[in-house]
Amino acid sequence: MKKIGVSADWHHGSRFGLANQDYVSAHNLKHSDCLMLDEDFMGNRDLVGKLDYLLLLGDHADGYNPLEHGEDSIAEENLQVEMGTRYARAFKGSPKMYVLRGSRYHRGRGGGNLDERIAHEIQAVPDKYGKQASPKRLLDIEGVRFSLAHKTTVSKSAWQYRGTPLGIRLVLSRLNKLEKDGAPYVLIRAHCHTFTFLGFKTQLGVTCPCYSTDSTFVQADAPESTPDIGMLYFEVDGDKFTWKPLCRGIMPTVERA
Ligand SMILES: [Fe+2]
Ligand SMILES: [Fe+2]
Repeated sequence: MKKIGVSADWHHGSRFGLANQDYVSAHNLKHSDCLMLDEDFMGNRDLVGKLDYLLLLGDHADGYNPLEHGEDSIAEENLQVEMGTRYARAFKGSPKMYVLRGSRYHRGRGGGNLDERIAHEIQAVPDKYGKQASPKRLLDIEGVRFSLAHKTTVSKSAWQYRGTPLGIRLVLSRLNKLEKDGAPYVLIRAHCHTFTFLGFKTQLGVTCPCYSTDSTFVQADAPESTPDIGMLYFEVDGDKFTWKPLCRGIMPTVERA
C-alpha cells in the first residue's frame, strides 16, 4: 500500500502565498496571508503523516509577477526557492518526489524556471528528458495510473465552468488511450486554486486546492472567486485506491466602514 500526498500553488514570495517568519519581515507578514496558509499547510502535513510519494503540481514560487511589476512580492527569488525546498521537505516519511512545472508567468526574472530549481534542490525524480519539473507526467503507482500536469482551463463564461475542463480531459484521455485497460485513472490538475472533482466508473478528475489566496490580479479579474486551501491525499493498494481532500474554502474579508 502506498500513501500519496498531492499539493500545488504555494506561491512563495507573494503576500498571498505560503511563507513564515524565517523568510519574510514582520511588517510584510502583517500585510499578508502567509502565516494563515502556513498554519493550514502544517496542519494538513501532520494529518497525512508519513508519505511514500509527494506529487507537487507547480507554481511553488511566485516569481516576479511581470504584470504587477512585483507589487506584491515580499521575498526575492532565491528565498522563494529556499522556501519551496523547505516546505517540500517538511513532509514526513522521506517521500519520493515528483514535480510538475507551473505557469510560465511565475518563472524567475531571467526566465529561469523556479519550479525546476526547487525540484533540483529536493532531488525530484527526473523524467525521460532529464527535467525534474516536467510539463506533464503519466505515472503508475502500483496499479493506478495518474495523469499529472499543472494547468487546466478556467472559464467564467458558462455555469458548468468547473466540471467541464475536467470532463474534457477525461474524455481526451480515453480517446487517446492514455488509460490502462480497466484500471483506475486519476487525472489531477492545479493552477485554478479551487477544488473540484468529477468521476466515472474507472476515472477520477480532480483539481488540487492551493496554499494561496487571491492575488491582486485575481481580485480585480474575478472578485467573486474564493480560493480553496489545502491538499489531496491518496492511498493506493494494488489496483484500488481511496482518496481524501484536505480542503477548506476561504471567505472574503468583510470590512466595516
Ligand atoms: Fe497558481
Ligand atoms: Fe498556475
